[in-house]
Amino acid sequence: MPATPDPTPSALPDDEDLIAVARVAQENAYSPYSKVCVGAALVAADGRVFTGCNVENASLGLTQCAERAALSRAVAEGVRRFSAVVITSSFDDPLMPCGACRQVLREFAADLRVVSVGMGGGRRESSLRELLPEAFEPGDLRGGSR
Ligand code: THU
Repeated sequence: MPATPDPTPSALPDDEDLIAVARVAQENAYSPYSKVCVGAALVAADGRVFTGCNVENASLGLTQCAERAALSRAVAEGVRRFSAVVITSSFDDPLMPCGACRQVLREFAADLRVVSVGMGGGRRESSLRELLPEAFEPGDLRGGSR
């Protein structure tokens, strides 16, 4: 037994665990306007998991999505590399991340695996590359040509 515990989990969380964690965050959604509750579990490259839920506002355009809430928490903890995001919602069908979330996640994780599950048990799995092809990405600001 090492004197100092290894901060890196030995096993990456599996999808069922991530769905359960996202569902807990979903329960904390603040969505009095749309009534849609969304949870996200964002998995860092080292296996740490950051959760988020949607947070609406009376000034509706200020609503924050669950995925971006999770990302902000991770970045505030100094984490910038991710392997997957699991999204849950109160919809029967899997909710796919909105365009703004795709773009914001792309900043940090071009190869992110995206899993979404609805209340009806359906599951959709894809990648950010599929969901946001030909993205505007960090390198583009350096004047790179395609
Ligand atoms: N929402 C998310 O949390 N993530 C998405 O990717 C799409 C939409 C939230 C925002 C709003 O509170 C509610 O779902 C309805 O749009």
